[in-house]
Amino acid sequence: MFATVEKQRNGIVLINIDNEETKIVFTNYGARIVSWKYDDNSIVLGNIVEADEFYEPNPFFFGATVGRYGGRIANATFELDGKTYHLEHNDGAHNIHGGTNGLDSRFFDYQIEEQVGQIKIIFTTQIKSTDDYFPGDIELKVIHTYDMDHKWTIEYEATTTEKTLFNPMNHVYFNLNRDNNMIDNHYISSNKLAMYPLGEDNIVNSTDTIDLSTIFNSNKIQFKELFTSENPKIKQQMDMFNGVDHPFEVENGEMAVENKRFVLQVKTDMPNIVIFTFNDTSSWDSDFNIYKAHSGFTLETQCIPNDINLYGDKAPSIITPDQPYYSKTSYKIFEKADI
Ligand code: GLA
Repeated sequence: MFATVEKQRNGIVLINIDNEETKIVFTNYGARIVSWKYDDNSIVLGNIVEADEFYEPNPFFFGATVGRYGGRIANATFELDGKTYHLEHNDGAHNIHGGTNGLDSRFFDYQIEEQVGQIKIIFTTQIKSTDDYFPGDIELKVIHTYDMDHKWTIEYEATTTEKTLFNPMNHVYFNLNRDNNMIDNHYISSNKLAMYPLGEDNIVNSTDTIDLSTIFNSNKIQFKELFTSENPKIKQQMDMFNGVDHPFEVENGEMAVENKRFVLQVKTDMPNIVIFTFNDTSSWDSDFNIYKAHSGFTLETQCIPNDINLYGDKAPSIITPDQPYYSKTSYKIFEKADI
């Protein structure tokens, strides 16, 4: 296992990790994943060759570290300790991905540590209250580790100068199919698959979940079954968003996604996983946009979007200066014959 560093134009650095049958690539721009391959099969969406042109204008946040707050905050407003905060309205009336000056568009400092059986890239940056209008300045480490078992782990470590919201995530899009054909054939599985319905403008405004395992009488459900379901609750959601763009609660933060050849296992200490099936690609007007709807899916591990307006001072994304933030998510790829 070894790492090599490659400098592209415009400040972009690619860090390539080679682990024989798998290879993974990260960049300092947004502390993001750029590529992950099993043999010659690309299992994430991205672009190594023209990374410097591809990522900056990409409105879908491919592979980026997103935050300080990953999901939508309704009306770009929240209240904390009796004070009302007004954020940037960068998604209609709402705030998404922490605003336009979020983590995805920063050049992180980095350090590479080659250890026994694994390679770690420690990315560091700061977000100031003046950058995004949330309270508190944050010091952040995003640590990407890749190990001999073809497991990619993300750890976030942060401290804040004031009580604030912190809810970062990674916006990688997976696709286990050869040539990244549409993901409708993939199965998602977990002992619990509870989906939070969305209201208008993709906002989570209810914690009354739809229990997919009961509806389908199975813990393993194909995306296609969801997209075409006649169940009125599911159909209403799929018709509104042309696919999945929903937070899920899964058993013990563990779920798997598979196609015929591969299994991707996810494990997180975050309470929710937002699955977004790339439902409408038309807003990206670029020659780089070769993507059809449903050509990838995200597994964004985070506290439920808009938690501050759902749970008030009990919102799990609240962090304080006396308690450093830590969270961990891993994605592991297997070839089925290996299991
Ligand atoms: C998240 C949101 C989606 C979409 C994407 C792209 O996944 O849930 O609605 O906005 O980000 O930014």
